[in-house]
Amino acid sequence: MIKKISAEQLYKRMNDEQGILILDVRSSLAFEKWRVEGKHVSAINLQLFKMKELGKEVTQVIPYDKPVVAVCEKGVVAKQTASILEGLGYDVGYLSGGMLAWSEFYETVPVYLKDSLQLYQIIRPAKGCISYLIASGNEALVVDPGRHIAIYEELARKLGVTIRHVVDTHLHADHISGGHALADVSVAKFWVPEEEMKDATRKYEPLFDQQKLRLGNENLKIICLKTPGHTISGMCILVEGKYLLSGDTLFVNGIGRPDLKGAALEMGSLLFETMTEIISRLGDGMMILPGHYSHFSEFNEHGFIGEMLFHIKQRSALLNLCDKEEFIAILLNLLGDPPPNYEVITKINQGKYEVSFNEQTELELGPNHCAVTSVQQ
Ligand SMILES: [Fe+2]
Repeated sequence: MIKKISAEQLYKRMNDEQGILILDVRSSLAFEKWRVEGKHVSAINLQLFKMKELGKEVTQVIPYDKPVVAVCEKGVVAKQTASILEGLGYDVGYLSGGMLAWSEFYETVPVYLKDSLQLYQIIRPAKGCISYLIASGNEALVVDPGRHIAIYEELARKLGVTIRHVVDTHLHADHISGGHALADVSVAKFWVPEEEMKDATRKYEPLFDQQKLRLGNENLKIICLKTPGHTISGMCILVEGKYLLSGDTLFVNGIGRPDLKGAALEMGSLLFETMTEIISRLGDGMMILPGHYSHFSEFNEHGFIGEMLFHIKQRSALLNLCDKEEFIAILLNLLGDPPPNYEVITKINQGKYEVSFNEQTELELGPNHCAVTSVQQ
């Protein structure tokens, strides 16, 4: 019987000291664009037909020293591959559901747990997307949920809280938001910055700068800060003056790219003002909790993605620039590929375009590409 490995089991194994070897049998192009990455993961890209050509010589290419996990698009070819390797004596399994299943896996990590405030980070490792659930009393706020909304419903149920607010910090271009769907099923308000939703057909509540969101414990301070630059009126959510859910404005190792909605120069200028006039004036001890990550090295020792502003500033060349023109020039020079299908995804998130669940899955495949990174990884 060939060992079937779920996305959740794969994620756990990636963090084991022993490590794993991913044998990715997809095309070299697909492998280059997007693959399983993690702390104790090494990877080989070798298609099944090449493996068959190699015959027993494949043992010269694939080492025996670590457990092997074969990976393909949907799990079918990987299963055949694992079967051949098992015959050659390998400790091998295959990723059930392939990269499709990997793309839909989420992990919940606690950031801060006290009676008056419980803050959870919900990580989608395949895409590097991060969302949050904040609970206080018997109510909750969800920030930037992915479209697999059962994750948030289940967490709220476990915690015994009712979701009262759902916020999208900005109009997402890299993934399909679960915001409106989650708000619908949980009878919550769905908040989005108004300027982001021009001509949108979707029902939402407009989110404004300095707006306070009330939740459970009346004294809890949750304030929205307008931080434009990645998008025209993207928001950060400041929680108790200590945690900044920074959306796609600031990441642990980078800042939000300014070009996805056009007008990159103007947006770059806004981003400079946001960094110098809003972000840099927050206390150095502010814990930055971003909306994405681009590399597993960004996980901190507590197992979540977050870093004190002070340390981010120390590492970031962009955050230390005082000249706007120089900031924009460097920023634009560092831009990589945009997220796959970002124009269609943006329209879907405004409610202007609808596709089936399976089409949504296809559109979202691939990494997020939301950050401009100015730090070596
Ligand atoms: Fe974004």
